[in-house]
Amino acid sequence: MDITKENIDAINGKLENKNAHEIIKFFIDAMDDRITFGTSLGAEDQVITAILAELKGKTPIFTLDTGRLFPETYDLIDRTNKKYNIKIHPYFPKSEEVETMVIEDGINLFYDSIELRHKCCQIRKLNPLKRALEGRDAWFTGLRRSQSITRTDMQIVEWDDNSSKIKVNPLIEWTEEDVWNYIKDNKIPYNPLHDKGYPSIGCQPCTRAIMEGEDIRAGRWWWENPDTRECGLHAKKE
Ligand code: ADX
Ligand code: SF4
Repeated sequence: MDITKENIDAINGKLENKNAHEIIKFFIDAMDDRITFGTSLGAEDQVITAILAELKGKTPIFTLDTGRLFPETYDLIDRTNKKYNIKIHPYFPKSEEVETMVIEDGINLFYDSIELRHKCCQIRKLNPLKRALEGRDAWFTGLRRSQSITRTDMQIVEWDDNSSKIKVNPLIEWTEEDVWNYIKDNKIPYNPLHDKGYPSIGCQPCTRAIMEGEDIRAGRWWWENPDTRECGLHAKKE
């Protein structure tokens, strides 16, 4: 079966009841390097990187390096590359775009309004994502349904209007506990911030630790409403 936008429902039907290894292998076999994987080095993404390494496919792995990541995340990029003998490809924002934005709106513009927050995500993440996906037809993500109210109706395979590519979410049905059991059982390197109250990690100025009982994404863009807390990588177009 061809992996096309038109076949998405049929592919989802075929993959129902398959585990993450089987889903990933299906796409590696069918698409070779026409599928890529975007990692933020978060816990879910580390699981996918480990599975990709185990399956020894040709899937390129990229990360959007916004320039505002935590030092712990940079350290984890290095440790992950060494452990799995891979080279996670960094995509940086265009320097001219960042310079103009900072001159016009300030270095910490994201706290000033939702529009400026989106502008920063656009320049530091979405524009580089376009480059990362050039020449590919699909990308793997570490999205899980139970991460957020904005993610409850996501499927294993989806058409992504934002990137105009197919998005494959092999861990869509995993719980947080499934992720951590897998990481511990397989000794997968992970961000030490996860042990300090940060279940979901993005850019340093836009991520804080959560308190007990808070939602796992409560520390992302915490000053905004829960229903706007997506950076645009996975936001649904209205
Ligand atoms: S976000 O939209 O709020 O930033 P989140 O951090 O939950 O997303 O990550 C969801 C998925 O998006 C990750 O599993 C990963 O596949 C992809 N992703 C998020 N941030 C990046 C990044 N900086 N580089 C590459 N992929 C990313
Ligand atoms: Fe900018 Fe924050 Fe978005 Fe990172 S998460 S790109 S710092 S607004």
